[in-house]
Amino acid sequence: MSSTPKVFVTRAIPEEGLRILREVAEVQVWTERLPPPRENLLDAVSDVDGLLSLLTDEIDAHLLDQAPRLKGVANYAVGYDNIDVTAATERGIWVTNTPGVLTEATADFSFALLLGAARRLVEADAATRAGDWLTWEPTYMLGADVHGKTLGIVGMGRIGRAVARRAAGFAMRILYADPSQSEEMEQALGAERVDMETLLAQSDFISLHAPLTQSTRALLDRDAFHRVKPGVIVINTARGELIDEKALVEALDDDRVRYAGLDVYAEEPLPRDHPLVTRPNAILAPHLGSATVGARRAMAEVAATNLRELLCNRVPPNAVNEPSRRHCP
Ligand code: DGY
Repeated sequence: MSSTPKVFVTRAIPEEGLRILREVAEVQVWTERLPPPRENLLDAVSDVDGLLSLLTDEIDAHLLDQAPRLKGVANYAVGYDNIDVTAATERGIWVTNTPGVLTEATADFSFALLLGAARRLVEADAATRAGDWLTWEPTYMLGADVHGKTLGIVGMGRIGRAVARRAAGFAMRILYADPSQSEEMEQALGAERVDMETLLAQSDFISLHAPLTQSTRALLDRDAFHRVKPGVIVINTARGELIDEKALVEALDDDRVRYAGLDVYAEEPLPRDHPLVTRPNAILAPHLGSATVGARRAMAEVAATNLRELLCNRVPPNAVNEPSRRHCP
């Protein structure tokens, strides 16, 4: 008779997910506000069958080697660049993510950053609180128009498409760069697929929605910032490493990039002495794209369902790999 599987959850996720896991497993949750330190994580995985991880947990080959019973890692995120998927596949371990359920929340947040950057919302709020609002002035705190401008979307996946739908409501012209064509977006919204060069040269706003891979790392580097339309506004809710931050700071300083609306960074949390912190023309959010009550609950349900299914020897609904060697029950 097989014993009850054990699961380690690396942070307190919404109860909806834990309930699903408790139906089939003995569940241990790391309840601290900060992620489990590496040694605790290594220790925790040594006797578990399932791991529910966050994007703050590095799941590499070494960690997987310390987990002889592990059947699957369910990431509580749509992105899974924190996991060495190849190493997991080689070890017969499933990897799953949470696509779909955070699309609209993340697109809303991207658009909030876009509007907030265009209209300098955070600066304006700070100015009001600081008593800098002396009177109504014709040229005070002017921002950029959004309607009728060109938005370049890099990565026309689920979130990119949801951002495009919002942009259409603002009468924006939509360009996109993606390995695949999105006929749906072209027909419905008049979106136009272009190469990166054209997107950089013509966009008034650039919004990043590509996964972090070897080919997208530092996609916006010094060279790219020299080819943008001067005064472009850059939005990133995807992954920080898509941008060379040093090059972005230079571009913000010489006004090639007028404003940046950022939710993600190469190093998270963003170090307090990072040069971006002192730039007035940047809005800096702490990785909140999917941070709505509804999205986070749904992510918990999806991640837990993925883990439950693979623990029950069924194919998990959101597998991102196909393990070569399945564990026997
Ligand atoms: C993700 O899901 O990848 C986001 O970055 C966090 O929700």
